[in-house]
Amino acid sequence: MILQSKCGIRPGYYDFSKEHILKSVDGILQRLHTEYLDILLLHRPDALMEPEETAEALQILFDAGKVRYFGVSNHNPAQIELLQRAFGQKLLFNQMQVSVAHTPLVDSGMAVNMFIDQSIDRTGSTLEYCRLNNITIQAWSPFQKGFFEGPFLGDMEKYPDLNHKCEELAEKYSVTPTGIAVAWLTRHPANMQVILGTTKASRVLEGCAGSDIPLTREEWYGLYQAAGNMIP
Ligand SMILES: NC(=O)c1ccc[n+]([C@@H]2O[C@H](COP(=O)([O-])OP(=O)(O)OC[C@H]3O[C@@H](n4cnc5c(N)ncnc54)[C@H](OP(=O)(O)O)[C@@H]3O)[C@@H](O)[C@H]2O)c1
Repeated sequence: MILQSKCGIRPGYYDFSKEHILKSVDGILQRLHTEYLDILLLHRPDALMEPEETAEALQILFDAGKVRYFGVSNHNPAQIELLQRAFGQKLLFNQMQVSVAHTPLVDSGMAVNMFIDQSIDRTGSTLEYCRLNNITIQAWSPFQKGFFEGPFLGDMEKYPDLNHKCEELAEKYSVTPTGIAVAWLTRHPANMQVILGTTKASRVLEGCAGSDIPLTREEWYGLYQAAGNMIP
């Protein structure tokens, strides 16, 4: 089992101060009745971050044996480098929203140098940067449409083509549509980890079954298009 948690979001603002990070982790450890976390992520960039101060907090946690590995979430490459420059250990993870229904990480890469909306790089080439630097992308909300608007799986009104395609491939590979939604992420060569949320153990098993499926290029791009995306 790997225990991972994150900190840095407070009501109405973001806080990567040393005091807040140390206090957050102590609270997490107390609530989980454990002595250490395997992984701590900084949740969303704090515009007022002082890299040296934040790095000092992380180092204190490491030296005290309270956290073994570190990463960030929703960070672009320059933000990662800013913190990395001050921190002696490698930041290993970047948790980003990505699913077949939320694709800014891959969209602009397929539309380089064109006069269309899709060419707008909304992430600063985060996917490519993470691949180049061996930072594992963790895909949050792998089944959600929009920003917490509910799962796209089963939404035949907004995503009929995607659901039909997921069902078709689910039958082909003897998994569920949930498995196909996971397969779309794990088929990507970036070796993403899928951070699904569920109240059902069976959903985790369905996702795991999908993670082994070698979708063909035609199937991967077909799902992307069925979600309403364009191949320029
Ligand atoms: N870093 C960040 O900024 C950030 C932000 C948000 C979330 N996260 C992380 O991502 C994790 C997952 O996020 P999430 O829970 O929003 O995303 P999710 O895994 O995409 O969605 C989970 C929801 O989808 C439902 N679901 C899954 N498959 C379904 C299907 N086939 N039909 C109908 N409903 C289905 C689940 O219901 P069941 O309970 O029935 O399975 C659950 O309510 C969170 O726990 C959190 O750790 C990170």
